[in-house]
Amino acid sequence: MSREAALKCGTESAVLWFTGLSGSGKSTIAEEVCRHLRRHGVRVEYLDGDAIRDVFPATGFTRAERDAHVRRVGFLASRLEEHGVFVVAALVSPYADSRQFVKRLCKNFVEIHVSTPFAECERRDVKGLYARARRGEIKGFTGLDDPYEPPPYPDLVLDTTAVSLAEATSRVLRQIEHPRTALRFVQTSEPVSIQS
Ligand SMILES: Nc1ncnc2c1ncn2[C@@H]1O[C@H](COP(=O)(O)OP(=O)(O)OP(=O)(O)O)[C@@H](O)[C@H]1O
Ligand SMILES: [Mg+2]
Repeated sequence: MSREAALKCGTESAVLWFTGLSGSGKSTIAEEVCRHLRRHGVRVEYLDGDAIRDVFPATGFTRAERDAHVRRVGFLASRLEEHGVFVVAALVSPYADSRQFVKRLCKNFVEIHVSTPFAECERRDVKGLYARARRGEIKGFTGLDDPYEPPPYPDLVLDTTAVSLAEATSRVLRQIEHPRTALRFVQTSEPVSIQS
C-alpha cells in the first residue's frame, strides 16, 4: 500500500512492545515488522533495548535500573506515538509493573510476548550471555536468577519454536489490523505478506 493510500485510510500510530527472554526473537521479529511497515510508507521508530543501553552505558541490571530503563523508553515511545510516529520497541522488560506503567502512557499499546522457552533461548545463546550467566559471570540474569514476569493479558503470544519468522511477522501485522486496536492502516484486500 502506498503512503497516500495509508494516509487516506486513516493511519493511526501505536506502540508495538515486544517483551521476552534474551534470545527469544524480539529484535529479529521487530526488525522484520519495521521493514514491512516502512515498505508501506509508515513512519516507524525502532527502539531496541540494547541499542539504547549502548547510548547510556551506565544503565545497569538491578531491578530499579531495569525498571527505570523500561519506563524511560516507554515514555519516549508514548511521546513519539502522540506525534503520529509508529513505534516498535524490543526490550526484555521482565517486570509486569513497569510494562503496565508504559501501557498506561500509550494510546494504542500492543503487548507482544515472545514466549520462546528458556531452554531454547539458552540453546541459541545468541550473545553468549547464558553461558556467562551459568558460569556465574553475570548475576541477576533474567530467567535464571532473576524473574521474568509473563504478561497476564498480552495482545499476542509468539513462541518461535512453533512459528517461523514469516508467520510471526504476519501475526503481528494481522494483530495491528484488529479493530480493537483502532488501527486501520493496513485495511486492504491484499493479503499481508512479508514478501510484498
Ligand atoms: N521463528 C523465529 N523468529 C525469530 N527468531 C528466530 C526464529 N527462529 C530462530 N530464531 C533465531 O533466534 C534468535 C533470536 O535472537 P534475537 O536477538 O532476536 O533475540 P532477542 O529477544 O532480541 O534477545 P535480546 O533480548 O538479547 O536482545 C536469532 O538468532 C534468530 O535468528
Ligand atoms: Mg534484542
